[in-house]
Amino acid sequence: MIETTSLSKSYYGRLAVDSLDFSVDKGETVGFLGPNGAGKSTTLKMLTCFLAPSSGTATVGGHSIEKDSLKVRQTVGYMPENVPLYPDMRAGEYLEFRGRLKGLHHRDCRQRMAEVMDLCDLTQVSKKMIGALSKGFRQRVGLADALIHRPELLILDEPTNGLDPNQIRQARDLIRRLGEEYTVLVSTHILSEVEKISDRVVIIDRGKIRASESPKSLVRRLCQQEELRIELKATEKQVRALVNGLSKVEISSCDPLPDGWLEITLGTSGPSDQRESIAIAIQEKGWPLRELASRTASLEDAFLEVVSTPRKDPSS
Ligand SMILES: Nc1ncnc2c1ncn2[C@@H]1O[C@H](COP(=O)(O)OP(=O)(O)OP(=O)(O)O)[C@@H](O)[C@H]1O
Ligand SMILES: [Mg+2]
Repeated sequence: MIETTSLSKSYYGRLAVDSLDFSVDKGETVGFLGPNGAGKSTTLKMLTCFLAPSSGTATVGGHSIEKDSLKVRQTVGYMPENVPLYPDMRAGEYLEFRGRLKGLHHRDCRQRMAEVMDLCDLTQVSKKMIGALSKGFRQRVGLADALIHRPELLILDEPTNGLDPNQIRQARDLIRRLGEEYTVLVSTHILSEVEKISDRVVIIDRGKIRASESPKSLVRRLCQQEELRIELKATEKQVRALVNGLSKVEISSCDPLPDGWLEITLGTSGPSDQRESIAIAIQEKGWPLRELASRTASLEDAFLEVVSTPRKDPSS
């Protein structure tokens, strides 16, 4: 559905997107991740024909972004980073205007409007001025706009930006549902959400692709260290002495809690689960123990691992 070949963009001689080669298959939901300024929005703008590449190319739905931009725009439903809306139009009016602009005939447009308003849960605000809608509803109007012309592919640039936790969850569920019908490329900083909805994540940093695989395999590959969280009663010095005597275990943090207990985070490496041997070592000391739990690594841990690794390229 998307295929990029050495796709690059520079602004005033400075490379923002540097020879990207990646693809998105039909039916996939792909999370497009990267730190601020990584080049995500620039890439998405090129794929939606809002920006011309400086070099390289891409096809979307088999159409060239340079030679066949009209076909590309028919194939894609794009929700940009800051959804541009007309505050003085009513939500329904706006969607009808957008549908007609995108080539839908009057009756078809009305029918499709009802469908997308139902899908995005907008029916109750159809007659409200966009300027009077909350941020969450305005984002949903932007999404409905992206969907109205029945695209095959959705490109969403930070669709949950500025939403409260409840709305973020609702947006995630909606994107998950859309993912059953559409191919989705979604850029976001909310990694816990993208981990749940993406078949695959593509991570870019300083304009270059750094990883492209399923969230699970990325975490498994990069986060082999397990973390143990312990709460016990002893002094920090005693704990450090004990841990120094254990192999393949190191202290990541050791902090007193307000109620007099000590909270310790241990990093453990190696294939075996070390909880039992650590519990026995603590028991032998006779220290009161109220928690010993392992924390499995998340996509956030893997993401930080990817983007904090220095690039080998000395010019970067
Ligand atoms: N119109 C522009 N003119 C000049 N430089 C730009 C322009 N747009 C983006 N840039 C630069 O290109 C780089 C990539 O920006 P881009 O907006 O694509 O990043 P991003 O990954 O979307 O970041 P964010 O997570 O903050 O949205 C940044 O260094 C940015 O400053
Ligand atoms: Mg951006």
